[in-house]
Parts: sequence; structure tokens; C-alpha cells
Amino acid sequence: MSEFLPEPLNGWKRTHNCGELRLSNDTQEVTLMGWVHRLRNLGGLLFVDLRDREGITQCVFNKDTDSALFDKAAELHNEYVIAVRGKVAPRNTESTNKSLPTKDIEVNVTEMKLLNPCRVLPFQISEEQPTDEGLRMQYRYLDLRKPRLARNLAMRHRIAKAVRDHMDSQGFYEIETPILVASTPEGARDYLVPSRIHAGHFYALPQSPQLYKQMCMVGGLDRYFQIARCFRDEDLRADRQPEFTQIDIEMSFVERDDILDMVEKLMNHVIKTALGRDIPAKFRRMPYSEALEKYGSDKPELRLDMVIQNVTEQLHDTGFGVFDSALANKEAIKAMVFPGQAGASRKEQDTLKEMAVEAGLPGLFFLAVTEKGIKSSLLKFLGEERAHSLAESVGAQEGDLILLASGPSQQLSVKMGKLRLAIANKYNLLDPKRLEFLWVIDFPMFSWSEEEDRLVAEHHPFTSPLPEDLQFMENEPLKVRAAAYDLVLNGCELASGSVRIHQRPLQEKILQRIGLSMEEALQKFGFLLNAFEYGAPPHAGIALGLDRLTAICCEEASIREVIAFPKNTNAADLMSGAPVIVTEEQLKSVHLDVTEVEE
Ligand code: AMO
Repeated sequence: MSEFLPEPLNGWKRTHNCGELRLSNDTQEVTLMGWVHRLRNLGGLLFVDLRDREGITQCVFNKDTDSALFDKAAELHNEYVIAVRGKVAPRNTESTNKSLPTKDIEVNVTEMKLLNPCRVLPFQISEEQPTDEGLRMQYRYLDLRKPRLARNLAMRHRIAKAVRDHMDSQGFYEIETPILVASTPEGARDYLVPSRIHAGHFYALPQSPQLYKQMCMVGGLDRYFQIARCFRDEDLRADRQPEFTQIDIEMSFVERDDILDMVEKLMNHVIKTALGRDIPAKFRRMPYSEALEKYGSDKPELRLDMVIQNVTEQLHDTGFGVFDSALANKEAIKAMVFPGQAGASRKEQDTLKEMAVEAGLPGLFFLAVTEKGIKSSLLKFLGEERAHSLAESVGAQEGDLILLASGPSQQLSVKMGKLRLAIANKYNLLDPKRLEFLWVIDFPMFSWSEEEDRLVAEHHPFTSPLPEDLQFMENEPLKVRAAAYDLVLNGCELASGSVRIHQRPLQEKILQRIGLSMEEALQKFGFLLNAFEYGAPPHAGIALGLDRLTAICCEEASIREVIAFPKNTNAADLMSGAPVIVTEEQLKSVHLDVTEVEE
């Protein structure tokens, strides 16, 4: 720590921030405040890179001009907080960091106050080198000083502001819904909050404002939105946090396409405002079944052209054991074209095979389309003619490599979908600047949960089935499609929504179909069922993940980089220590007895 004492501001006020001075400010007297980002003492001259949220400005101390001031500056260390006064001057541009917006000027310091010193740092703010994630989280207030996080949080702010402005202009009210709610049986695990007043009773933190926003519609509020915090006790991943933020939306008297249209306009406004970029006015739409078939995923990554193609019909009776036995088992054979990889060496092909095994495909076979014809170990089984017509039918050009695999049709697509993404990542085929939006529509209404041995709602049980599929409800429920839609951006599920049920008999039927008895349905959702009998309007809505949208706009791989105070993968806040052990009295006051405590 420094020997000298921190000084009070005593009326000093900033005239500028550390990112805004330019040559046009030449000769101006300025006052700047911020952190010592970097320090270079050349003996007679001392340079301090002064940093605040907005940027970095070079400040110069000259021994010849003021040796006492110079000596004081020589006491500084990284991350000391200082205020400087001085005159702006042009800067010798040869020595400047060309990427700094303030590179053309410097401030010749005439006065300085040390506002606060700083202990030895656990990691350097001035270095963009990777720091241990745990350390970053423990000292999040230091991590937040890094230009990268400041830039990301500025982007998050701009996106949230653009959302609010746009939704306001479209007649939406921002309405807050409760944080202490009732636990519901569907969805992820709830975070529970014990009640002090009602012994043995619990609130849950909302997994989303779903039922409240529907109640807003029954309440005649017509157009609702909320930048809403949601809580889910589920396993964490790069794109999942236990608390996260949704741009939550609901509208009355609308159908599916009205929601899609509204979100397309919202996204156009947000991307234009936040990134200054134009995106298509309308987004592509793809049925769920096609997404699974062609991309092996319900969230296709469209920055990659590779499509999974079914070539089963063309590969009957080849004499190649793997394919023949697959066909005998009524399995499928599918192909993907890897552009420009016909020249892949044996070693490169082996790497692809290893990646295929990783994706769950034990066998991967190749056809290389070269200028000298098709090269493949399968050629002796397929013959030249069949190989050529296969290449043509999958759209392979000279120089491309065709990948072939076999297996049960749907699983095969899913595994090839995984391989497709692994290839994209390994070969760096995904342009982070590209934004590929896609609507996935016509999701199945139900799926079968082996774990729970019952039907579960694929989106949520308040989603309306497609009217034309109601006929399958009794006997073939897995055939029923839902009026549900997902917005996918660059292979990430950005948003989910649906047209809602607004009539009691259908809602009761769906709740029963997912295994709730009438008694349970009434106990958990009685208020919803009742509300539907008091003139509920037709309504529909959607929720977009604000964290995911921001991460993609910031070109970040993890949403932790766009959340000011994220949790780690163990759902812990390493800065505050949450979750923590509470006192016996606290437990007693909420009528709890803890039986097991983690060491
Ligand atoms: P859903 O559960 O699909 O739908 O969530 C909507 C969107 O929220 C984001 N999201 C998450 N982001 C970060 N961490 C998480 N753990 C997490 N979970 C979800 C995703 C997702 O697409 N009430 C319905 C919406 C509706 O029907 O209107 C809902 O919550 O971007």
C-alpha cells in the first residue's frame, strides 16, 4: 500500500471520461478520474494509462515541469484510484496503441489526487489473458473492471433499453409479476422459500411468469411484457444459469403468426439499435420434423450449410455388409457433404471417424469427389455409376467429401447432427459475426418420459394443440402437434412460446393427459381453470432469453460473460458465498429442521 493518504474530492468534478478526448480537445484544461491501468516510468517522464468504464487516456507526468508531482506519481501502482488535472496535447502517434480511440492525445498532468490505493491484485485487470474462472468470480468486482465485461454489460443495457422502447411503441405495458409464487408440478425443479407465517408451507421462485402473464390477459391488459428474472434449479451449462432473464411477452386476440411477426419486428429493432446491423425482416420457418431430419436438432445451426440427407433408397443391395445389414434391420443410411475436404488425408479421415464415435456413430464412411473421379473404399461395392449418381443427388461438387453413416433413422439424424456441430467447431466454420434466425414450428404437443412413465408436455401444458390434430388426442397423443414455436439464433434456442389454451374443457383434458388427476389439476391450477370461465380472450405469447441474446451479440460462448454477477457451475456465488448455512434461529423461525449439511 502507498505511504500517502487518500485525498478527498473537495469539489473536483470530472470534465470528461477516459474514452472521450480527441484532437479537437487540444489545449483544453481537463479533469479525469479513474483507475491506473498501466504505468511506465521512464525516469524523466512517467506515463499512466488512466481507465474508466468508457476507455483509457494516457496521462503524462514530467519531472522537469514538477518534480514533486512526478515523485508522487512514481508511488502509484496498478488499480490505484486517482484524479488528475491537466492540459490536453497532441500525442506522438508513433508510440501509440492504434486501437485506442484516444490515441491522438495525451493529458499533461499538473495536479493529481490519490483517491484510494489498491492492494496487490489477485489478477491483472490490464491483461486479457485467461484468469482462473473461480478467481474471476470471487473477485467479480475486479473482473467487472475489464474492458470486455464493461463492453458486454453496456451491450446488455442497450438491448434491454431497445426492447423497452420498442415494446412501449407497440402498446405493451411492462408489468411486474410476483417473485414469491406457488410451486407447480411441471417444468424444472423449483427453488423453494419457506414461509414463516404459514408453518410447513413454501413459496417457489418463478421458473417463468407463465401463468401470471396469462392472468394479465384474462385481466384485459391486452399486451404485456416484462424483463423478468426466472429461477430454475437445474443442471448448469454454458447457456444455462439458475437465475436468468427473459424478455417475456403475451398478447390477446392474436394467432401464432401475429407473435412471430411481432418478434421479427422486435429483433430487427434490437439488432439495429444494439449492433447497428440490418437482419431480414422475415425469418425462415421450419417444421420441427424437418429440423430433426435435416439437422438432427430442434435448434438447427444454419451458419453451416451441411444438411443431413437420406440416401437409403439409393444404397440397396450394395454387398457392403454394414449397409446391407442396416437395411435388413429397416434402418436408414444418411449422408452429409463436407465441402472442400476431398483431399482429407488418412489421418484427417481418422480424426473425423473419432469425432463420429464421440457423436455416437461407430461407423463413418467416405466418398471423395476428386478431379480424377470418386475415391472411396466403398467404390468396389457401389460401382462407379452408383457412386456418381449418389454424389450428384447429395449435391457434392468436385473437391467435396461425402460422409455416410447408417442406423435407426431418427437417432441417426441426431448423431449426425452432433457430428455436424463438432465438425463446425473443429474446423472453425461458424462465423461469429453472422446472425441466422430461424423459426422452428409445429412441435409435438407431448413426449413420453421414460423416467416418469407418463406423457409430458413438450413446451408446457398451457400450450394449445393444433386444432387439426385434436383427433389424435385420445389414442395417438404423440402424433398431436402443438401451436408452439421456438426462435433459434445460430443454433441456440433463443425463445420459446405458444398459442395458449383459453377454454376450460381443453385445459382440463391436457392436464389429465399428462397424468394429473382432476383433484390435482384443481389444486394446482384451479385458479387458471376458473379464470378461463370468466371470459378469457384468445391469447398467445413467447419468452426470449435476454442472457443468450446478449451473449450472441457480444460473440461470447457463455452467458456468464454477460451477467454482472453469475453463479458458477455449482450454482454458487463465489463472491458472496451464497448459498450459505443459516442460524438455528433462522431455521426455527421458518419451521425447518436441517438433516444434512454439506461439508
Ligand atoms: P422456456 O422455458 O422455453 O419457455 O424459456 C424461454 C427462454 O428462456 C431462456 N432460458 C434460459 N436462459 C438461461 N438460463 C436458463 N436456465 C434458461 N432457461 C430458459 C431460453 C429459452 O428459450 N413460459 C415459457 C415461455 C412462453 O411460453 O411464453 C418459458 O419459460 O432462451
